Amino acid sequence: MEPKADIGVFGGSGFYTFLDNVEEVELDTPYGRPSDAIAIAEVNGKKVAFLPRHGKDHRYPPHMIPYRANLYAMKQLGVKQIIAPTASGSLQPDIKPGDFVVCDQFVDRTWGRKDTYYDGPVTRHISSADPYCPQLRLLAIDVAKEMGITVHEAGTIVIIQGPRFSTRAESQWFHKMDWHVINMTQYPECMLARELGICYVNISLITDYDAGLEGRDDIKPVTEQEVLRVFDQNNDKVKQLIYNMIERMDISVHCSCHDAAQ
Ligand code: ADE
Repeated sequence: MEPKADIGVFGGSGFYTFLDNVEEVELDTPYGRPSDAIAIAEVNGKKVAFLPRHGKDHRYPPHMIPYRANLYAMKQLGVKQIIAPTASGSLQPDIKPGDFVVCDQFVDRTWGRKDTYYDGPVTRHISSADPYCPQLRLLAIDVAKEMGITVHEAGTIVIIQGPRFSTRAESQWFHKMDWHVINMTQYPECMLARELGICYVNISLITDYDAGLEGRDDIKPVTEQEVLRVFDQNNDKVKQLIYNMIERMDISVHCSCHDAAQ
């Protein structure tokens, strides 16, 4: 029988395993193989598919992740809703390491990534005015609050190409634009989900203050080690939040995201 799943979860930096008693499936897609085998297990009577977007051994840097294959594989499994946690930097002093941000907007600063399924001859222009699922965002916020997590209910995430972090000048610019958080993988993952009619929510776990904070010489620019250290400290909280969300998710609900590409 073909493997099936209702809900998808992407793991990011420092988040490579999630479920117990999994069935591992190796999928192929018209866009190549996803980053790794997909682990499927039942959680609260719902089938959940987990895929670490960088691969289990972090072999894909952000600009090399096979985003189209990853999303298409989720679609092949029948996934209709995706929870996408990410390690992200903060661009504003009131958003602190350890806080969570449920982003509602993005600014794409990446280049050269394969970011659409509409390469022709079929051409579509999908609205990205509201790129994140409104229902999953509300659920993430509710559950985070119930758990006593410091959660910012909205935020603009700027996605840089990586793999390098930003210069002080770039970071200052993003800060002055009033953008809130920074990351390397939200684009095109978020928009590919939308093209496939899959609800998608980002939960940004803040690991650092990017290139630092004005007037705070004690806060050093981000390093890879610091991202992993802070993510590791908060890994259990991120996982519990996702489990609690899954418990409350209605897999039969119809959402406007499902019609985004109609
Ligand atoms: N991921 C975590 N922190 C980041 C930062 N400061 N810039 C880009 N990606 C990140």
